[in-house]
Amino acid sequence: MSDNNVLLVTGATGLVGGGVLRRILEAEPGSRAYVMVRDELRWRSTEQRAFGNLASRITPVHGDLTVRGLGLDYNVRRRLTREVTGVIHAGADTCFSRSLAEARLVNTEGTREMLALARVCGRSRRFVHVSTAYVAGRRCGLIEERDNGSSAGWVNAYERSKYEAEVLVRKADFDWVIFRPSTIACDSRDGSVSQINGMHRALRIYHRGLAAMMPAKPGDLLDMVTSDYVNDAIVRVAFDPRASRQTMHLCAGSNAITIGDLLDAAYELWGTDPVWKKKGVERAILTDLDTYTLFARSVIETGDPRLASILSSLSHFIPQLALSKQFDTTVADALVGHPAPAVATYWKAMITHLMANNWRCVTRAAA
Ligand SMILES: NC(=O)c1ccc[n+]([C@@H]2O[C@H](COP(=O)([O-])OP(=O)(O)OC[C@H]3O[C@@H](n4cnc5c(N)ncnc54)[C@H](OP(=O)(O)O)[C@@H]3O)[C@@H](O)[C@H]2O)c1
Repeated sequence: MSDNNVLLVTGATGLVGGGVLRRILEAEPGSRAYVMVRDELRWRSTEQRAFGNLASRITPVHGDLTVRGLGLDYNVRRRLTREVTGVIHAGADTCFSRSLAEARLVNTEGTREMLALARVCGRSRRFVHVSTAYVAGRRCGLIEERDNGSSAGWVNAYERSKYEAEVLVRKADFDWVIFRPSTIACDSRDGSVSQINGMHRALRIYHRGLAAMMPAKPGDLLDMVTSDYVNDAIVRVAFDPRASRQTMHLCAGSNAITIGDLLDAAYELWGTDPVWKKKGVERAILTDLDTYTLFARSVIETGDPRLASILSSLSHFIPQLALSKQFDTTVADALVGHPAPAVATYWKAMITHLMANNWRCVTRAAA
């Protein structure tokens, strides 16, 4: 991307949008950005915490992905259509337990609205769409960096709504690129976690011994990536001419970790904590999805309400463990210039960080 660019960024208060925007502004002193935010106060606190001096080059505009026309003021919309040279759409509802209607409203219809705006931004060179590797849903095996279809179905409405958003992006009659990160685990440099997600929550449940079973085989792969890899990759490739109309997996791919290795490392580390050891927490039993589903259903229907609510929350995420897949990263590796770091190189550091911080994330400048 050349200097003097004017970006329109959604999701700038979030993990990915904030991290990407910060890196672009640092790398290109002549660039500036509009951030579309729905909550002025949240933006103010993000701005102070994550952007420091860079904030002078950011203009917040009020907008909402769920509103027709994005709820943008008429004059703001005109300014954006005249000035914006590139759109980075990282805003989304990332909660796995939403209804399909709720997830679609933000993720699918919000993307439709952003595409409509990008279309009339006369100077815009590309629509940069942040998707998820889990648009693959229930599909197993090798997942390619393209539209793999919808026949396999999805584990939750988030995955489906993000798949539907990708379909809209691919239909655009202007330039686009789709990035599909897998689960963002931590920062590769020190294992620090700046956003707790479903994977961390599930891990905590097993740490506390609250779920006796896990639906997976020891050799199945679990893919995750680091926030620094994802942010670097997006900044590097977003406006690269070679990435035009490409879909790429920002995933560990062949550097993912097997469930067996992941659990060995986790239980070994937990075992170094005398308090945890004293509790006598049993290692989770690996089982097939049907057995796990029966177990979870019986707890949800007849068990302790607290356990029922925990297993119910896991149900939006945990079936993915049983749907073993490997994300192809050929396109991403070629464009980024290197693969994502192997999960085994930071997995223990991440767990150590979570244990040291009592499973809370750290708040710091966008990675
Ligand atoms: N984090 C991951 O592990 C991960 C993995 C794969 C893919 N992704 C993808 O990466 C993108 C960014 O994810 P993230 O982790 O950065 O998400 P996040 O931290 O949850 O942030 C979501 C962002 O979207 C904004 N947003 C939500 N609803 C909105 C609405 N109605 N109107 C305007 N803005 C709205 C939020 O603004 P508020 O501050 O107002 O809530 C926030 O800035 C998403 O597309 C997600 O699917 C993330």
